[in-house]
Amino acid sequence: MTAQLSSPPTVGVLGDGQLARMMAPAATHLGIELHLLAASHHASAAQVIARTTLGDYRSADDVLAFAQGLDVLTFDHEHVPDQVLSALAEAGIPMNPGPHALLYAQDKLAMRRRIEELGLPNPRWTQVHSADELIRFGDASGWPVVLKTPRGGYDGKGVMVLQSRQEVSGQEVSSWLRRAEQAGTGLLAEQRMPYTRELSAQVARRPSGDVAAYPVVEPTQTNGVCDEVIAPAPHTSQEHLAEAERIARSIAEQLQVTGMLAVELFEVAEPDDATGTAAGIYVNELAMRPHNSGHWTMDGSLTSQFEQHLRAVLDLPLGAAAVAGGAGGFAVMKNLLGGSSQNLHAGVAEAMQRSASAKIHLYGKDPRPGRKVGHINILSQTTRPQEDDDAATRRLERARRTAAEIAEIIVEGAS
Ligand SMILES: Nc1ncnc2c1ncn2[C@@H]1O[C@H](COP(=O)(O)OP(=O)(O)OP(=O)(O)O)[C@@H](O)[C@H]1O
Ligand SMILES: [Mg+2]
Repeated sequence: MTAQLSSPPTVGVLGDGQLARMMAPAATHLGIELHLLAASHHASAAQVIARTTLGDYRSADDVLAFAQGLDVLTFDHEHVPDQVLSALAEAGIPMNPGPHALLYAQDKLAMRRRIEELGLPNPRWTQVHSADELIRFGDASGWPVVLKTPRGGYDGKGVMVLQSRQEVSGQEVSSWLRRAEQAGTGLLAEQRMPYTRELSAQVARRPSGDVAAYPVVEPTQTNGVCDEVIAPAPHTSQEHLAEAERIARSIAEQLQVTGMLAVELFEVAEPDDATGTAAGIYVNELAMRPHNSGHWTMDGSLTSQFEQHLRAVLDLPLGAAAVAGGAGGFAVMKNLLGGSSQNLHAGVAEAMQRSASAKIHLYGKDPRPGRKVGHINILSQTTRPQEDDDAATRRLERARRTAAEIAEIIVEGAS
């Protein structure tokens, strides 16, 4: 049974980036009142959400004042400090996801421990406090080693690959260890996975228990930042896709996640003898909010991940999560990463001219090199009842090319 909501229902969001911004159209369609706590009126989400309060998500006072009277509070990032979450919980503010679940999206060490307890597949990992411990892990598990700060990372910041034990004496490793020591956390060291590809499995779970799963997708990263996503994942076996979905459902249920959950995964398609890694699907990290790997849903699924997140956090029935367009339908999402153009709108007309069916999404952010400033979605459908694999591959490659060309036009400026 859905609890009694205000009329209209009110959802507050902490975090003023593009994820909060993209909740706004879904809230508008459903007549939901969205409230935002933003650092400035120029923030990506503050530009489009009328009910914006200026404040700091790291201040318990600001957040408590903001949260009064909301049906539920949710997040567009995982960096809200523990003290603030505790203060909210003590004050009885309804939060989805709850802090008991959110912890595993905030803290990669806590996440590794929990995934292990749940019997789900992790890369080999350990917690390290010193260079000696790091070297011992690398020597036992094998080099290279991936070193991570447990908290605060995003877009590959907070992730360092160490090729050999010699690199452990480098300045950056020392300063990471020193800072982790001061914070009393230690660092996460992981086996560098010999993955064939990365995958992302997204599910939504509402507090009363229902779970809806989106098709598993294939994201590709360039320099640690998501570059492109193909939905559904085109190269992965049915068996591995089912395993990826099973893992995501199991995490949502066992951690009692509420709202959208993205499970970033590594697929090892064939056993890797050199590193002693079995074929299978392994957990990379968790995000409990809409996620870059789900932006395709805005145009490629009946229910966008932003609408699904709002439904889930309000404990409303979940929407259909398949790829639109029936069998043979797929979507390509291409991120717009800041390039040489300072005015993204200068390229928009030419981009629209290039393809009438590509969907352009801009976040109202100033372009800086490599910064996520928007994305392109292309939905591809087929009317042919029995399309062969070659034809489907050509269709996918065409959509990828078009998306890449349009992205180039926008971030580099009209030609
Ligand atoms: N153990 C590993 N083995 C191989 N590659 C890894 C490993 N851990 C991370 N990576 C690579 O680094 C990328 C970023 O790592 P991770 O997802 O942990 O960091 P993040 O900065 O928190 O994430 P995001 O980019 O999703 O915000 C991964 O998507 C993957 O490409
Ligand atoms: Mg990641």
